[in-house]
Amino acid sequence: MKDVKIESTLTVFEDFNELPEAIKDLLQKAIDARKNAYAPYSKFSVGAAILLDNQQVVTGNNQENASYPSGLCAERTAIYYAGSQFPEAKILKMALTAGSREHQTITPIPPCGACRQAIAEYEVKQDTPIEIYFMGETGKVVKSASLANLLPLGFDRSFL
Ligand code: THU
Repeated sequence: MKDVKIESTLTVFEDFNELPEAIKDLLQKAIDARKNAYAPYSKFSVGAAILLDNQQVVTGNNQENASYPSGLCAERTAIYYAGSQFPEAKILKMALTAGSREHQTITPIPPCGACRQAIAEYEVKQDTPIEIYFMGETGKVVKSASLANLLPLGFDRSFL
């Protein structure tokens, strides 16, 4: 018997202005996309912007439904659109922002488990890391150098 330690390293930017210009631009696109979220039930809006290696940027936001589980998170709305429109392109970076309409969200909001699994599929498919940046509405921004870093012991096609 032995214990196995799993570690992840994240980079924390104390402020938006510490980020490289290209990342600020991508996060700004996610912030803009968040404004179109359809979130009448949770009142929690999420925006995602994806940079592809063909230089296209694909954005998305959460889309809710009166039948709650039928709604979809921003990350999956965006990544499935990217996969459907640009099946040959690699995903380089993903920027995420989230905020409640009922209180100010200054904590960086990471992607949910289901979205991590969905993003992992594309990281495995393309065999190159996807950088993920996430924030609240303002405040700190967290960078993960890859999705795998956010989903240790992930389930992927190699097990099938
Ligand atoms: N949501 C996202 O869009 N992404 C996540 O990673 C977490 C949650 C959405 C789903 C729902 O519309 C609202 O946020 C509250 O859970």
